[in-house]
Amino acid sequence: MPRLENIGCLATCASPSGQDDIGLIHGAALVWQDGVVRWTGPASALPAEYAEEPAWDAGGRLVIPGLVDAHTHLAFGGWRAGEFSDRIRGRSYLEVAADGGGIASTVRATRALDEETLVERSRRFLSEMVSLGVTTVEAKSGYGLDLETELRLLRVYRRLDEIGPARVVATCLAAHVIPPEWKADRSGYVDLIVAEILPEVASQGLADFCDVFVEDSAFSADEARRILARARELGLEPKLHVDQLTGGTGAELAASVGATSADHLECVSEAGIRALADAGVVAVTLPIATLYLDQTPPPARALIDDGVAVAVATDFNPGTAPSYHLPLAMALACTRQRMTPAEVLKGATRFAARAIGREGTAGSLEPGGAADFAVIDAPDVEHWLYHLRPNACTATVIGGDIRHGALRAAGGGSGSL
Ligand code: NIG
Ligand code: FE
Repeated sequence: MPRLENIGCLATCASPSGQDDIGLIHGAALVWQDGVVRWTGPASALPAEYAEEPAWDAGGRLVIPGLVDAHTHLAFGGWRAGEFSDRIRGRSYLEVAADGGGIASTVRATRALDEETLVERSRRFLSEMVSLGVTTVEAKSGYGLDLETELRLLRVYRRLDEIGPARVVATCLAAHVIPPEWKADRSGYVDLIVAEILPEVASQGLADFCDVFVEDSAFSADEARRILARARELGLEPKLHVDQLTGGTGAELAASVGATSADHLECVSEAGIRALADAGVVAVTLPIATLYLDQTPPPARALIDDGVAVAVATDFNPGTAPSYHLPLAMALACTRQRMTPAEVLKGATRFAARAIGREGTAGSLEPGGAADFAVIDAPDVEHWLYHLRPNACTATVIGGDIRHGALRAAGGGSGSL
């Protein structure tokens, strides 16, 4: 039964409540078997039955649950660096989109790529995410916007979940924007989503969630209600991109449809915060998108203080968040959203897992959960997120297998588990 010892500081994130309760154990040990955690606790309390076999040595470092990136647009074609420069020169995100750039340009580039190419591209991104300590990634379609390409993107995610290197949870975002060929008939595109795309996605078992981007430039609240009601009939749970660019009642909508998460929320109102708290909807903040769009950050403190679980994710996509560096997003959540390092860690592990329906298996280290963890070369969580290095993660383990870096055997040597 493999065991990791000499853990300077273990953050189990085992408690389902308390944004800053990360379950710290100093001088800890961690035991797992067949990819599942069996025991965590102070090394001094290790039961004799677990002490017999050789162990791995964490070198006194910080060990955390594998990070969960609860919001990405992982598979897409092309990049949009030109648009990045245009925005720096003063064009707004919505102006770029109105000229056929933005999401529509990524849709054109994505439709041109075959499944193999998309798998290879996305797999490279995933490998780098794993090297940063990420073990589970939510991935949205939404750059296909036709039946064929939406299904292709979701098949890419299913294959990546099978072959690794990370666990992938898929979300259908066919309701990202109205594609150019449907501009004159937007209700026709909503009909296509509810009558063809979602039923096919569900019958092929290609996604767990259905997401809708609610915004003046995308879908209305009524359209979202119709799409998410159909999704739920088909067994796909609702998620929402809301209150991102313009203030509205997106959070209230998320609460009223019982969404698993409400994501973005830069423009959420006080009433929206209360609605999320009452309905138990996870708020997913996306500090890299907030940074690139130069927005005022979402009111994370008010959300937490009102009892909303706040998750922190990258929103990795070629437009508003062209980085999958989750520790960077976490450091930004500290500095710009006034979340403490402990609160941010809970938001990128346990509460992120809750935002994608994986709480108890991913995002925490407790008996019965997955043996997914990262070894961080820092004495504690505060130091890790304060002294932001390109990469402080020295090993990432998923289901008991080393997927990045190496672990030293206690007593010398290194090797595989
Ligand atoms: O989450 N808000 C909508 N969708 C993405 C942006 C996608 C893009 O610009 O390509 C987001 O920010
Ligand atoms: Fe997004």
